[in-house]
Amino acid sequence: MRQTLVMGNWKLNGSKTMVRELISALKVPAAEAANVAVAVCPPVLFLGQAEAELAGSRIALGAQDADVHTEGAFTGENSPAMYQEFGVKYVLVGHSERRTLHGETDAVVAAKFAAVQQQQLVPVLCIGETLEQFEAGETQTVVERQLQAVIDACGIESLQHAVIAYEPVWAIGTGKTATPEIAQGVHGAIRAFLAQQNAEVAAGVQILYGGSVKGDSAAGLFAMADIDGALVGGAALKADEFAAIIRAGT
Ligand code: G3P
Repeated sequence: MRQTLVMGNWKLNGSKTMVRELISALKVPAAEAANVAVAVCPPVLFLGQAEAELAGSRIALGAQDADVHTEGAFTGENSPAMYQEFGVKYVLVGHSERRTLHGETDAVVAAKFAAVQQQQLVPVLCIGETLEQFEAGETQTVVERQLQAVIDACGIESLQHAVIAYEPVWAIGTGKTATPEIAQGVHGAIRAFLAQQNAEVAAGVQILYGGSVKGDSAAGLFAMADIDGALVGGAALKADEFAAIIRAGT
């Protein structure tokens, strides 16, 4: 049985006050949703403060990206090895905003995935198609290509220690949430694709949906057989909204 996981991707949003107040407001909703795993991914500059604010709570800490080097002459990079100093558990890799705005290829994403796992952290592999690809009926081709790049680099078994987040790019930040049926169609096809290579891995891997998830849309998504939670952007910045999404997973 796969546990529901609700993750907040804060993107480039945060302040010392917000970190304190938002995390404080989420502790009780997270504690009350004992069967739901909860995580927040603040900007990297706030990982230290977030670790301290999360102390004693059920909420896990995540990072939004990682570089592949662990230490050395790599100015400006963020080391997955150093994330362990802050109690980080999850690391997003391949978010569409990294792929589009920073030119991250499938190969780069696979290398980041491997670097994160080498540090015993849990990569959250973000995949998803653009609007053009969706309209061209290329969704499955795109997500399978993105998945296979990681499988080729790290092996299908590596997904036993990872999370997949399907985020249709056309639903991110647009308010256009994929319907539960559309999302389930892709999630089910992803799981079937993985099952062709390893049935046990396919059955066990959490597949989150991301793309304009809100408190009033989460329950319908979570009711789907192959949707194991949500990767939430905008709604994660509002305590009440994110708490409602957490409650929808109970
Ligand atoms: O990583 C989650 C994010 O891409 C979804 O953003 O604002 O559509 O919930 P949003």
